Amino acid sequence: MVQINNVSFQYGHEKILDNINLHIAKGDYIAFIGPNGGGKTTLIKIILGILKPTSGTIKIATNKIGYVPQYTNFSLDIPITVLDVVLQGRLTKNKFFYCKNDIKKAIEKMELLQIANLQSKKISDLSGGQRQKVLIARALVDEPELLILDEPTSAIDTKSQRAIYAILKQLDITKIIISHDMNVLLEGVNKVAYISQTLVLHDTPHLHFQPDQEHFCEIEFINAIKNCNICKGDT
Ligand SMILES: Nc1ncnc2c1ncn2[C@@H]1O[C@H](COP(=O)(O)OP(=O)(O)O)[C@@H](O)[C@H]1O
Ligand SMILES: [Mg+2]
Repeated sequence: MVQINNVSFQYGHEKILDNINLHIAKGDYIAFIGPNGGGKTTLIKIILGILKPTSGTIKIATNKIGYVPQYTNFSLDIPITVLDVVLQGRLTKNKFFYCKNDIKKAIEKMELLQIANLQSKKISDLSGGQRQKVLIARALVDEPELLILDEPTSAIDTKSQRAIYAILKQLDITKIIISHDMNVLLEGVNKVAYISQTLVLHDTPHLHFQPDQEHFCEIEFINAIKNCNICKGDT
Protein backbone atom coordinates (compact mmCIF):
# COMPACT_ATOMS: atom_id res chain seq x y z
CA MET A 1 0.00 0.00 0.00
CA VAL A 2 2.89 2.34 0.90
CA GLN A 3 6.51 1.86 -0.15
CA ILE A 4 9.04 4.34 1.23
CA ASN A 5 12.63 4.01 0.02
CA ASN A 6 15.60 5.96 1.43
CA VAL A 7 13.48 9.01 2.17
CA SER A 8 15.14 11.99 3.82
CA PHE A 9 13.60 15.37 4.56
CA GLN A 10 15.03 18.72 5.62
CA TYR A 11 13.50 22.06 6.52
CA GLY A 12 16.23 24.35 5.24
CA HIS A 13 19.42 22.96 6.76
CA GLU A 14 17.62 21.17 9.59
CA LYS A 15 17.53 17.43 9.02
CA ILE A 16 14.12 16.09 10.08
CA LEU A 17 14.02 12.58 8.59
CA ASP A 18 17.09 10.55 7.74
CA ASN A 19 17.00 7.67 5.27
CA ILE A 20 13.57 6.25 6.09
CA ASN A 21 12.62 2.84 4.68
CA LEU A 22 9.17 1.44 5.31
CA HIS A 23 6.77 -0.96 3.62
CA ILE A 24 3.15 -0.85 4.67
CA ALA A 25 1.16 -3.77 3.27
CA LYS A 26 -2.53 -3.80 2.47
CA GLY A 27 -4.42 -4.44 5.72
CA ASP A 28 -1.58 -3.36 8.01
CA TYR A 29 -2.44 -1.35 11.12
CA ILE A 30 0.73 0.50 12.00
CA ALA A 31 1.43 2.88 14.88
CA PHE A 32 4.02 5.68 14.61
CA ILE A 33 5.44 6.46 18.04
CA GLY A 34 8.37 8.53 19.27
CA PRO A 35 9.26 11.86 20.87
CA ASN A 36 7.66 15.19 20.03
CA GLY A 37 9.51 16.77 17.14
CA GLY A 38 10.75 13.35 15.99
CA GLY A 39 9.28 13.78 12.51
CA LYS A 40 6.09 11.68 12.67
CA THR A 41 3.75 14.34 11.29
CA THR A 42 6.34 15.24 8.65
CA LEU A 43 6.42 11.63 7.44
CA ILE A 44 2.60 11.59 7.29
CA LYS A 45 2.66 14.77 5.20
CA ILE A 46 5.15 13.13 2.84
CA ILE A 47 2.87 10.09 2.51
CA LEU A 48 -0.05 12.44 1.78
CA GLY A 49 1.98 14.30 -0.86
CA ILE A 50 1.74 17.60 1.06
CA LEU A 51 5.55 17.64 1.42
CA LYS A 52 8.08 16.36 -1.12
CA PRO A 53 11.04 14.37 0.25
CA THR A 54 14.45 16.02 -0.11
CA SER A 55 15.68 12.66 -1.42
CA GLY A 56 14.33 9.14 -1.84
CA THR A 57 11.13 7.77 -3.33
CA ILE A 58 7.65 7.02 -2.14
CA LYS A 59 4.94 4.96 -3.83
CA ILE A 60 1.33 4.84 -2.71
CA ALA A 61 -0.93 2.19 -4.22
CA THR A 62 -4.16 4.16 -3.76
CA ASN A 63 -5.48 7.68 -4.13
CA LYS A 64 -8.30 6.97 -1.69
CA ILE A 65 -6.83 8.27 1.55
CA GLY A 66 -8.76 9.45 4.60
CA TYR A 67 -6.91 11.81 6.93
CA VAL A 68 -7.55 13.01 10.47
CA PRO A 69 -5.04 15.85 11.04
CA GLN A 70 -3.25 16.52 14.33
CA TYR A 71 -4.70 19.99 14.72
CA THR A 72 -8.11 20.94 13.47
CA ASN A 73 -8.96 24.58 13.59
CA PHE A 74 -12.71 24.52 13.65
CA SER A 75 -14.06 27.93 14.22
CA LEU A 76 -16.40 27.05 17.04
CA ASP A 77 -18.44 30.20 16.37
CA ILE A 78 -19.80 28.90 13.08
CA PRO A 79 -23.02 26.97 13.81
CA ILE A 80 -21.99 23.96 11.70
CA THR A 81 -23.63 20.63 12.55
CA VAL A 82 -22.12 17.16 12.93
CA LEU A 83 -23.81 16.04 9.68
CA ASP A 84 -22.34 19.07 7.82
CA VAL A 85 -18.84 18.22 8.99
CA VAL A 86 -19.11 14.54 8.05
CA LEU A 87 -20.53 15.48 4.62
CA GLN A 88 -17.47 17.67 3.91
CA GLY A 89 -15.63 14.40 3.36
CA ARG A 90 -17.77 13.77 0.24
CA LEU A 91 -16.76 17.02 -1.46
CA THR A 92 -13.97 17.06 -4.03
CA LYS A 93 -12.35 19.64 -6.29
CA ASN A 94 -15.17 19.19 -8.80
CA LYS A 95 -18.06 18.34 -6.55
CA PHE A 96 -19.74 21.08 -4.53
CA PHE A 97 -23.21 19.66 -3.84
CA TYR A 98 -24.45 16.68 -1.92
CA CYS A 99 -26.78 14.02 -3.26
CA LYS A 100 -28.93 11.48 -1.43
CA ASN A 101 -26.17 8.91 -1.55
CA ASP A 102 -23.77 11.28 0.24
CA ILE A 103 -26.23 11.65 3.09
CA LYS A 104 -26.74 7.89 3.19
CA LYS A 105 -22.96 7.38 3.45
CA ALA A 106 -22.67 10.06 6.12
CA ILE A 107 -25.35 8.39 8.24
CA GLU A 108 -23.69 5.00 7.77
CA LYS A 109 -20.35 6.34 9.06
CA MET A 110 -21.97 8.25 11.94
CA GLU A 111 -23.66 4.99 12.96
CA LEU A 112 -20.31 3.20 12.80
CA LEU A 113 -18.77 5.84 15.08
CA GLN A 114 -21.85 5.77 17.34
CA ILE A 115 -22.64 9.46 16.82
CA ALA A 116 -25.76 9.22 14.63
CA ASN A 117 -27.82 10.59 17.54
CA LEU A 118 -25.67 13.74 17.49
CA GLN A 119 -26.07 14.53 13.78
CA SER A 120 -28.06 17.75 14.23
CA LYS A 121 -25.95 19.04 17.12
CA LYS A 122 -23.54 21.90 16.65
CA ILE A 123 -19.94 20.78 16.61
CA SER A 124 -19.20 23.43 19.26
CA ASP A 125 -21.57 21.67 21.68
CA LEU A 126 -19.73 18.34 21.63
CA SER A 127 -17.15 16.86 23.98
CA GLY A 128 -13.60 16.37 22.74
CA GLY A 129 -14.13 12.64 22.28
CA GLN A 130 -17.34 13.15 20.32
CA ARG A 131 -15.62 15.73 18.10
CA GLN A 132 -12.81 13.31 17.28
CA LYS A 133 -15.38 10.69 16.30
CA VAL A 134 -16.93 13.25 13.93
CA LEU A 135 -13.53 13.84 12.30
CA ILE A 136 -12.97 10.10 11.91
CA ALA A 137 -16.43 9.72 10.34
CA ARG A 138 -15.54 12.55 7.93
CA ALA A 139 -12.28 10.79 7.01
CA LEU A 140 -14.18 7.54 6.36
CA VAL A 141 -17.20 8.85 4.48
CA ASP A 142 -15.57 8.64 1.04
CA GLU A 143 -14.58 4.98 1.64
CA PRO A 144 -10.77 5.34 1.79
CA GLU A 145 -8.44 2.37 1.32
CA LEU A 146 -5.87 4.00 3.59
CA LEU A 147 -6.79 5.84 6.81
CA ILE A 148 -4.21 8.11 8.46
CA LEU A 149 -4.81 9.47 11.97
CA ASP A 150 -2.41 11.96 13.57
CA GLU A 151 -2.83 11.87 17.37
CA PRO A 152 -6.61 11.46 17.23
CA THR A 153 -7.01 10.77 20.94
CA SER A 154 -4.38 12.92 22.60
CA ALA A 155 -6.78 15.29 24.34
CA ILE A 156 -9.57 12.93 25.42
CA ASP A 157 -10.29 10.72 28.40
CA THR A 158 -9.26 7.05 28.57
CA LYS A 159 -12.81 5.75 28.22
CA SER A 160 -13.40 7.66 24.97
CA GLN A 161 -9.95 6.61 23.74
CA ARG A 162 -10.79 2.96 24.24
CA ALA A 163 -14.13 3.37 22.45
CA ILE A 164 -12.37 4.94 19.45
CA TYR A 165 -9.65 2.27 19.30
CA ALA A 166 -12.24 -0.51 19.49
CA ILE A 167 -13.97 0.98 16.43
CA LEU A 168 -10.70 1.49 14.53
CA LYS A 169 -9.67 -2.10 15.20
CA GLN A 170 -12.80 -3.35 13.41
CA LEU A 171 -12.17 -1.30 10.26
CA ASP A 172 -10.92 -3.60 7.57
CA ILE A 173 -8.67 -1.10 5.74
CA THR A 174 -5.00 -0.13 5.95
CA LYS A 175 -4.41 2.24 8.87
CA ILE A 176 -1.56 4.45 10.09
CA ILE A 177 -1.96 6.04 13.51
CA ILE A 178 0.31 8.41 15.39
CA SER A 179 -0.29 8.04 19.08
CA HIS A 180 1.25 8.38 22.51
CA ASP A 181 -1.67 6.47 23.99
CA MET A 182 -0.22 3.04 24.47
CA ASN A 183 -3.62 1.40 24.76
CA VAL A 184 -3.78 1.81 20.97
CA LEU A 185 -0.99 -0.74 20.82
CA LEU A 186 -3.06 -3.14 22.86
CA GLU A 187 -5.97 -2.70 20.50
CA GLY A 188 -4.82 -4.44 17.41
CA VAL A 189 -1.88 -2.76 15.65
CA ASN A 190 0.38 -5.28 13.96
CA LYS A 191 3.40 -3.00 13.48
CA VAL A 192 5.02 -0.20 15.43
CA ALA A 193 7.47 2.28 13.89
CA TYR A 194 9.57 4.28 16.32
CA ILE A 195 10.43 7.56 14.60
CA SER A 196 13.06 9.96 15.87
CA GLN A 197 14.77 11.28 12.72
CA THR A 198 15.38 7.64 11.80
CA LEU A 199 12.78 4.87 11.78
CA VAL A 200 12.94 1.52 13.56
CA LEU A 201 10.21 -0.98 12.78
CA HIS A 202 8.84 -3.56 15.20
CA ASP A 203 6.30 -6.28 14.59
CA THR A 204 4.09 -6.55 17.64
CA PRO A 205 2.18 -9.84 17.60
CA HIS A 206 4.84 -11.58 19.69
CA LEU A 207 4.70 -8.94 22.43
CA HIS A 208 2.51 -9.85 25.34
CA PHE A 209 0.89 -7.18 27.43
CA GLN A 210 -1.68 -7.36 30.16
CA PRO A 211 -4.71 -5.69 28.60
CA ASP A 212 -6.14 -5.13 32.06
CA GLN A 213 -3.15 -2.99 32.94
CA GLU A 214 -4.66 0.49 33.21
CA HIS A 215 -1.36 2.31 33.13
CA PHE A 216 0.93 1.39 30.30
CA CYS A 217 2.93 4.29 28.98
CA GLU A 218 5.21 4.84 26.03
CA ILE A 219 8.38 4.44 28.13
CA GLU A 220 7.20 1.03 29.34
CA PHE A 221 6.33 0.03 25.80
CA ILE A 222 9.74 1.04 24.50
CA ASN A 223 11.36 -0.95 27.30
CA ALA A 224 9.23 -3.96 26.37
CA ILE A 225 10.39 -3.89 22.76
CA LYS A 226 13.99 -3.28 23.84
CA ASN A 227 13.89 -6.40 26.01
CA CYS A 228 12.34 -8.41 23.24
CA ASN A 229 15.05 -10.40 21.54
CA ILE A 230 13.07 -10.93 18.34
CA CYS A 231 13.23 -7.16 17.75
CA LYS A 232 16.70 -6.27 16.68
CA GLY A 233 15.90 -2.59 16.38
CA ASP A 234 17.86 -0.15 18.48
CA THR A 235 15.42 2.28 20.01
N1 LIG B 1 6.94 24.24 8.72
C1 LIG B 1 8.05 23.94 9.39
N2 LIG B 1 9.19 24.65 9.22
C2 LIG B 1 10.32 24.33 9.88
N3 LIG B 1 10.43 23.30 10.75
C3 LIG B 1 9.31 22.57 10.99
C4 LIG B 1 8.07 22.83 10.31
N4 LIG B 1 7.17 21.93 10.73
C5 LIG B 1 7.79 21.14 11.63
N5 LIG B 1 9.09 21.53 11.77
C6 LIG B 1 10.11 20.87 12.64
O1 LIG B 1 10.27 19.55 12.20
C7 LIG B 1 10.51 18.68 13.30
C8 LIG B 1 9.56 17.50 13.23
O2 LIG B 1 8.23 17.96 13.45
P1 LIG B 1 6.99 16.97 13.39
O3 LIG B 1 7.07 16.14 12.16
O4 LIG B 1 5.77 17.81 13.55
O5 LIG B 1 7.25 16.06 14.67
P2 LIG B 1 6.25 15.09 15.47
O6 LIG B 1 4.97 14.98 14.70
O7 LIG B 1 6.99 13.79 15.60
O8 LIG B 1 6.06 15.72 16.81
C9 LIG B 1 10.37 19.53 14.56
O9 LIG B 1 11.66 19.88 14.99
C10 LIG B 1 9.63 20.75 14.07
O10 LIG B 1 9.99 21.87 14.83
MG1 LIG C 1 3.04 15.53 15.16
